[in-house]
Amino acid sequence: MGVSVTRNDAWSGRDVLSILDFSRSDLEQLFETADRFSKKEADFPRSLADKIVATAFFEPSTRTRLSFSTAALKLGARVIDLSPDISSVLKGESLADTIRMLDSYSDMIVMRHPSEGAALLASEVGHVPIINGGDGSQHHPTQAMLDLYTIKKLKGGVDGLRYAVVGDTRYSRTATSFLYGLSKYKPGRVYLVSPEGLKMRDEVRASIEALGLQTEELNELPPILDKVDVIYMNRIQKERFPDPNEYEKVKGSYRITASMLADAKDAIVMHPLPRVNELAYDVDSTPNAAYMKQAGFGVPVRMALLHLIVGGEAW
Ligand code: CP
Repeated sequence: MGVSVTRNDAWSGRDVLSILDFSRSDLEQLFETADRFSKKEADFPRSLADKIVATAFFEPSTRTRLSFSTAALKLGARVIDLSPDISSVLKGESLADTIRMLDSYSDMIVMRHPSEGAALLASEVGHVPIINGGDGSQHHPTQAMLDLYTIKKLKGGVDGLRYAVVGDTRYSRTATSFLYGLSKYKPGRVYLVSPEGLKMRDEVRASIEALGLQTEELNELPPILDKVDVIYMNRIQKERFPDPNEYEKVKGSYRITASMLADAKDAIVMHPLPRVNELAYDVDSTPNAAYMKQAGFGVPVRMALLHLIVGGEAW
C-alpha cells in the first residue's frame, strides 16, 4: 500500500494525564495515526476487539464522553459507563475505591472529575491506563490534542501562526491545555484576550513562561482581529467560580459575532464547546467557523489515542 508503519514505544500502555507528558514527535505520531482513522470505516483495524473501555465522568460531558465511546466502539471495544448519579458514589464511595473497581472490570479508564489531580490519583491506584477527560482547571489533554490536529488540518500546520486565546483564561482547562500544547510548537504570536476578573492566574502564567511560550495580554479582541490566524474562544467556567458574585461581575463580558469577523480575514474561529453566549449563532454561517469540524475531529484523534495505547502500530 506504500504506507509505512513504525513501532509504537511512545504511547503503548501509557496514562494520558497532561499534554505536557508528550513530546512534539509523540503528538505528530498521534496525528498521522488519526489521519488514517479519518478514512472510511472498512479500513479500521479492530485493535480494541478484546478490550473493555470504562468511562467515568463525575462532571457533565457531551463531546468527550461520547466521542471516546464512539472511538472505542469503532475499534471493536465494548464500553461500560459508571454514571456517578446512579452509582455507589452516591453512597459515599471514594474516588480511589471507585477506580479500583473499574480497574478490575476494564482495560482502560476514561475519566473526568472536578478536582485537579483526580486523574493522577486514579493512575496511582489503578493498573490499567487512565485517560484524563478533564480534571480541575488546567488539564484536558485530549481536547488540546484534537485542537492542535484541527489547526494542522485547517491551516496546514501549527508553527508560525498567530493565536488569540479569548475569554476565561483563569478557569478554563481547555485554554490552559491548549497553551501547554502550543508550547510544544513554535507559534508566531500568542495573545491572551480576557476582561479583568478572567485573566490567567499567576502560577499558571509562570508555568507557561517556564515552558518558553511568550504571551501578550489584552482586554479586547477587535484591535487584533486582522492580526491573528486562529481565534480560540472559551466559555466562562461558571461552575469553577468560588464566589457566585464574582461570576455575576464577568458574565456576558465578551462575545464574538459574525459582523466582528469582517475584519478577521481567513482566521479560523475555534471553541471546545459547549458555547453559551460568548459565541453568537450567526458565526456558524461564516467561513471562519471551525468549531463543529473541531468537535468532529475528536473521534479520529481519540481513535488514534486508544489504538496507540493498546500497542497498535503508529502510521
Ligand atoms: N470540549 C468538551 O470537553 O466538551 P464536553 O464538556 O461536552 O465533553
